[in-house]
Amino acid sequence: MDFKHQLAATSTLSKLTTDALVLVVSGETLVDELDAKFKTPITSALASGDFVVKAGKSLYLHHIEGVKAPRVWVVAATGNTPKAFKTAVATALNLVKASAAKNVVIAPISAMELTDAHAEAVVCAVEDAVYLYRHTKPSAAKASSLNAASLVCTKAEVSAVQKGLVRGRAVAAGVTLARECANRPGNHCTPTYLADTAKKLGKEFALKVEVLDRKAVEKLGMGSFLAVAQGSEEPLKFIVAQYQGAAKTVAPVVLVGKGITFDTGGISIKPSAEMDEMKFDMGGAASVLGTLRAVAELKPKLNLVVIVPSCDNMPSGKAVKPGDVVTSMSGQTIEILNTDAEGRLILCDALTYAERFKPAVVVDVATLTGACVVALGHHNSGMFSNDDALAETLLACSRASLDPCWRMPMDEEYEEGLKSNFADMGNVGGRAGGSITAALFLKRFTSKYRWAHLDIAGTAWKSGASKGGTGRPVPLLTHFVLSQVA
Ligand code: BES
Ligand code: MN
Ligand code: ZN
Repeated sequence: MDFKHQLAATSTLSKLTTDALVLVVSGETLVDELDAKFKTPITSALASGDFVVKAGKSLYLHHIEGVKAPRVWVVAATGNTPKAFKTAVATALNLVKASAAKNVVIAPISAMELTDAHAEAVVCAVEDAVYLYRHTKPSAAKASSLNAASLVCTKAEVSAVQKGLVRGRAVAAGVTLARECANRPGNHCTPTYLADTAKKLGKEFALKVEVLDRKAVEKLGMGSFLAVAQGSEEPLKFIVAQYQGAAKTVAPVVLVGKGITFDTGGISIKPSAEMDEMKFDMGGAASVLGTLRAVAELKPKLNLVVIVPSCDNMPSGKAVKPGDVVTSMSGQTIEILNTDAEGRLILCDALTYAERFKPAVVVDVATLTGACVVALGHHNSGMFSNDDALAETLLACSRASLDPCWRMPMDEEYEEGLKSNFADMGNVGGRAGGSITAALFLKRFTSKYRWAHLDIAGTAWKSGASKGGTGRPVPLLTHFVLSQVA
């Protein structure tokens, strides 16, 4: 999608040449300069109650006399916030994309100031509306014909809007990459496919990309990661991609993403209902690769390392068994009491591997626990950190990027459940507080750096009719990485 800004006064909207015009109303009053050709029908629709200023409401005006755009959608936003603006544009775009319009112009027509956050939100809303999964369903070719969009702004707003559009394009491309990976089924999106995706990014953006195979992982002593991978015929991959935007001596931001390309549960097998959705258990990996893409495009002056341990979690004659004890790369031993708690087992070795980069900060991202979905539902990602300043930064970035997360507790009292008679720790606590014990397990491998953990089990995927990947938390992570420029 080609996305631009368009300098224009509200008084000239009727003269804009475009297939579709989206007018955003964010209050009962319309700006004085608005052309009567729009003002008259909108005011009348408001008076009759045919149009109300409430999220989700819209009014369609076809071929207005004297207006160049043949299609006009008026949409309501509840307030002037970027979030309200984004919701309104999303409503409009779902209508526009069903029409024959090839391009669209979006313009606010109530008194409001567009900021970079508004512009970024609009790009994300538009890309989200036009994305269509087609890789294994090419017959879904009836995507919209929309290929260009622009946002009308004033001279005073233009520099902020341009900045927001640049960031929005990068974030949206990262989101799309993450969604596409998550949507591809387990027999397509394999560890090898994730590695190839990283290599492709490497070529496109001149990044250093290394892919370690089983032999290399054995040499490193990643006994925990290997235990998960051993049940599958699909070769494991350990992906390390580096973006360098600052001097080599500058400590990097490190992102670690869980790359389980299918989670059957292993010998502790999952129930079959909805097991298909466990193809998105690489949502963490997809989001760190998407973030890498966004960052590489924006070229901030910092260093970023992305680490993805990737394999399938399968039951087989070679699979790890409940009760097996393995030695992690850190030297700590783990009793694998439940083979379905595999995410932490592959992440712990990746977290130890991260030490070699002497990171400024490490954030891991994982579809880690069903318990997190129970706790927070599908709106907030779970965020864990024992560094208050880091937690505050992540919260601020989640608000700014409209990609919410919520901080969860990590009191040591919860650690009780990880005790084992046969190893330094078990890999599961009890059922209660399951996302917290998972985070506390990971914490034991992060003593060398500042660290946070995002549990995205509820936010990386949508079930139901619009089943598919969301691309979250690419917006949050991109904002976070950008915030780390020295
Ligand atoms: N990948 C799952 C977590 C998950 C569940 C993600 C639902 C998305 C939706 C993870 O590997 C898992 O199976 N976790 C177990 C942990 C338990 C065995 C301690 C869980 O949540 O049930
Ligand atoms: Mn599992
Ligand atoms: Zn899993």
